[in-house]
Amino acid sequence: MDCTPVWFMRQAGRYMEEYRRVRKKYDILTICKNPEVAAEVTLQPIRRLHVDAAIIFADILLPLQGMGVNLEFTRGEGPVIRDPIRTAADVKALRLFDPREDLSFVLEAIQIVRKELNGKVPLIGFSGAPFTVASYLIEGGHSTHYIRTKLMMYSEPSTWHALMRKLAKITLEYLRSQIRAGAQVVQIFDSWVGCLSPGDYSNFVLPYTRQVVQGLKEEGVPIIHFGTGTSGLLELMKSAGSDVMGVDWRIDLDEAWGRLGRDVAIQGNLDPVALFGPLHEIERRVEDVLKRAGNRPGHIFNLGHGILPQTPVDHVAAVVEMVHQYSKR
Ligand code: CP3
Repeated sequence: MDCTPVWFMRQAGRYMEEYRRVRKKYDILTICKNPEVAAEVTLQPIRRLHVDAAIIFADILLPLQGMGVNLEFTRGEGPVIRDPIRTAADVKALRLFDPREDLSFVLEAIQIVRKELNGKVPLIGFSGAPFTVASYLIEGGHSTHYIRTKLMMYSEPSTWHALMRKLAKITLEYLRSQIRAGAQVVQIFDSWVGCLSPGDYSNFVLPYTRQVVQGLKEEGVPIIHFGTGTSGLLELMKSAGSDVMGVDWRIDLDEAWGRLGRDVAIQGNLDPVALFGPLHEIERRVEDVLKRAGNRPGHIFNLGHGILPQTPVDHVAAVVEMVHQYSKR
């Protein structure tokens, strides 16, 4: 490629008219479980935006159902788990499942999308990282302070480690099955890991994420490791061993890349809220990110977190053009 590649986390979603039309007919779990519909939604941003990668339409919480956990998406509240995991017995009851059975719909969607893309752009598979998935399991939904999650680490470390062992196993199997179904890159979303101190990250999280990353190495596809608010954790996260590190806008891209070293690629890091601004200001900020990346190969342009539902779609399309124009080599 002769310019910096660009795609967006949450590039399929409510900011797109085409997606909202599908969402009128089906709820999010129904979309995910219907491979033809999930494939269609995955392809919507490819047609509309000319991005350089597709990301399979799914959710990081889909494996919960395979584990035997009751997952719902409610209007306004987001994901809700009515029977959260709080005790050693709860952890013990979590089922280790075979993604080729319980998540076969994701794998089928991957196969359909690969066929439809016909080599046009690569397809990214993904999963949540063990920590971020654990936080939903324990809190029962989205959290601000992660009190119960951290309390499990601090007061019942053996329960915490048992949970993380299971989640690492499930995550590795799930990503491996996505790669074998046709995913050409995988991203591990540790969206909320920035809430941890470096010490807690090292003790309670890193060994499990590392296990997932290392277990995927033999599959031979690039691995992207993403989190938000991670400027205190970058070097530790890198030591899990991914090929690409995703960073958000709370750290400048040149500083992040400098600290991480050039032996790892970098993805990011425009503030998703910047997309709401006037085009000339968006342009200035896109240029700033590209300048900080120094037009080096190994930069994947993205936002620092997912596209927000109210984002003007024309601004998103404009950013793709800007990135391609300015980074032409
Ligand atoms: O990027 C893509 O286009 C692929 C699709 C994708 C979804 N979820 C679909 C979705 C991806 C990559 C995810 C990942 C995901 N899901 C993460 C990690 C990324 C991040 O944002 O940090 C997390 C934390 C989740 C859990 C989750 N799913 C939440 C918190 C919510 C509710 C928030 C909201 O925006 O309403 C969801 C629901 C969800 N997953 C939506 C989409 C498009 C919105 C639901 C809808 O259409 O009503």
